[in-house]
Amino acid sequence: MTQVIVALDVDTIKREEELLRALKGVIVWYKVGLRLFTAHGKRAVDLVRKSGGKVFLDLKLHDIPQTVAHAVSEAQKLGVDAVSLHLLGGHDMVRAAADVSPRPRLWGVTVLTSMGPKDVQLIHPDARVPALVESLARLGKDAGADATICSPSDVAELRRRLPSLDLKFVTPGIRPRGASLDDQARVTTPGEAAALGIDYVVVGRPITRAPDPRKAALDILAEMQAAAPGALVRPRGARRDA
Ligand code: C5P
Repeated sequence: MTQVIVALDVDTIKREEELLRALKGVIVWYKVGLRLFTAHGKRAVDLVRKSGGKVFLDLKLHDIPQTVAHAVSEAQKLGVDAVSLHLLGGHDMVRAAADVSPRPRLWGVTVLTSMGPKDVQLIHPDARVPALVESLARLGKDAGADATICSPSDVAELRRRLPSLDLKFVTPGIRPRGASLDDQARVTTPGEAAALGIDYVVVGRPITRAPDPRKAALDILAEMQAAAPGALVRPRGARRDA
């Protein structure tokens, strides 16, 4: 079951409202990230909730355990449905966040896809990206995170290497065939992501910068449905012509 999360990477409430209006009934999940949250805070979250959507608050928390646990507790009060944290914060930090009750879903970032071999070797000369991704995915699961945020290209390998962990995945870097890559280096199509059984795909510009965001979203959902029939949650009543 693959769900689409639309990344609201915009800086004005007006633009957020336009997108929410355009995508109503088609998209359930929305990502409020650092830009929109820093600019507009709770208001940006409330708008999504008022329109009936679910919020993934992508703040990538990373601090001492108690501070992160308090932030997760505040995210719960905001009414968000998921919040991200850096697994590099360590087992105790993730565990402290997971022990908050009630709390939103906790999604853990492994290694940012902007970090390449040279970057991780500046941290330690023996560090390798795939090994780091694997050990962080394991750490996240052991410490109570609900899903792993990683590149779609990591998913098959992580499943193969960590078969007993039954990991759930959240992946950005999704581009319909022929779409602009923007600044994404390695991408996966919506159909491939659905066929892989990725739980949530984060899609930004292919929808938010499309001339008709609603049509772009419906096309992506249709591609996913065709690749993995029956695997997609689509709000009742969402029709191509709706
Ligand atoms: O516009 P696009 O589809 O590339 O947006 C992807 C979203 O996912 C953006 O909000 C971006 O910050 C986020 N993201 C990413 N790659 C990562 C982690 C997060 O593209 N490795």
